[in-house]
Amino acid sequence: MNEVPPATALSNSLTPEVMESYWLPFTANRKFKRDPRLFSGAEGMYYTTTDGRRILDGMAGLWCVNAGHGQRKIIEAIKAQAEQMDYVSSFSMSHPIAFEFAHAIAQVTPGDLNHVFFANSGSEAVDTALKMARAYHRARGEPGRTRLIGRAKGYHGMGWGGLSVAGMSRHRRDFGPLLPEVSHLNHTHFPDKNAFSRGRPAWGAHLADELQQMMAIHDPSTIAAVIIEPVVGSGGVLPPPVGYLERLREICDRHGILLIFDEVITGFGRLGTAFGAELLGVLPDIVTCAKGMTNAAVPMGGVIVNQKVWDGFTAGPEGTIELFHGYTYSGHPLACAAGLATLEVHRDLDLYARTRRAAQRWEDTAHALKGDRHVIDIRNIGLLGAIELEPRAGEPGERGSEVNEMCFQEGILIRNTGDTLVLSPPLIIEDAEIDRIFDTIRNALKKVA
Ligand SMILES: Cc1ncc(COP(=O)(O)O)c(C=O)c1O
Repeated sequence: MNEVPPATALSNSLTPEVMESYWLPFTANRKFKRDPRLFSGAEGMYYTTTDGRRILDGMAGLWCVNAGHGQRKIIEAIKAQAEQMDYVSSFSMSHPIAFEFAHAIAQVTPGDLNHVFFANSGSEAVDTALKMARAYHRARGEPGRTRLIGRAKGYHGMGWGGLSVAGMSRHRRDFGPLLPEVSHLNHTHFPDKNAFSRGRPAWGAHLADELQQMMAIHDPSTIAAVIIEPVVGSGGVLPPPVGYLERLREICDRHGILLIFDEVITGFGRLGTAFGAELLGVLPDIVTCAKGMTNAAVPMGGVIVNQKVWDGFTAGPEGTIELFHGYTYSGHPLACAAGLATLEVHRDLDLYARTRRAAQRWEDTAHALKGDRHVIDIRNIGLLGAIELEPRAGEPGERGSEVNEMCFQEGILIRNTGDTLVLSPPLIIEDAEIDRIFDTIRNALKKVA
């Protein structure tokens, strides 16, 4: 067990004055500080709160602690690296583990997605990928290809690029003009056609044809890339309809458009394969990743490109810098050490095969809630799940928040996107824990107004 500092020591130091300074992201700060959720320890499937409660983590932190909390091998790797070398720049210099980690990633990616650029978060990975897409076309003599196409309900982090291609109106509303030359496809969430689908909905492949239709307005020679999450995560867990991704791929190929999969959530095992592209059987040109990449123990993001994209950047003289882009902490030694150890842990645990096995029980247990009070849709793929509740009249989102809170009181951490409960547990979850999560939700649904 990790040492958990005594709860009283931690809470006592948090006077209102001390709590005032920290501005939490995506949080109602003033309300939160009146009744804060504070955690002090984590091990395996569980968090410990500062008041000593054990909480079953139904979210893998924030879709990221895929191998479970406190993995010793990862902790030891970070410690050892911190002792050996804390930091070195990645601008025209590096360190061996960065190469080893990039190579190890390339070994688990599908197809020829085999060149890895390091960033520090999913947001940075997405902005990097979008810049790469434009720069790729420019390098190949098509500088007019600048349009970026995202999708409604998409979430691509909080950078200006990611926000511009994202499709969640509340996230975009307050920040003034975003990137020009961005268009959006419609989402694939049509409950009247595909509610209660197990895994990928059978209906909806044709929705991809909207990309072709857009070309009546935007000439294909002006389009750089399409970016989507192969499975929408934060927007409410939406697996792609059968055949949808294939069609997008086909249209992109026909018109020389790059296809980017944002695998920040689906990367590193979430669907039972190293990357979602493998399970879904469609290869993008560029993949963004983060989260599970280091088991969330050190922040890191990455962009993985295929041979075609790499070749596009490397046609010039050897002495040219291929991409005028990078971060102080790109390829940070601690993150690379954590990442390399993470992949070892995945192998040691045979985590992807284990996830595939758990996913069957996950699906059955989730869908057993069909017919329960308030439930209007249930979605799942790999170890992702969503239970969509009917919004309470005049109070959208309230029912979802209340169920979330009731589950927390019962010792289960979940999330809600409005009235959709979303689930993404560590991939080491056991059958009894799957049952407990859905039983707790079922009980909350019986009580919630
Ligand atoms: C699909 C996707 N892309 C990008 C991001 C942004 O990642 P980060 O919060 O690490 O910047 C997220 C975060 O949830 C995500 O789910």
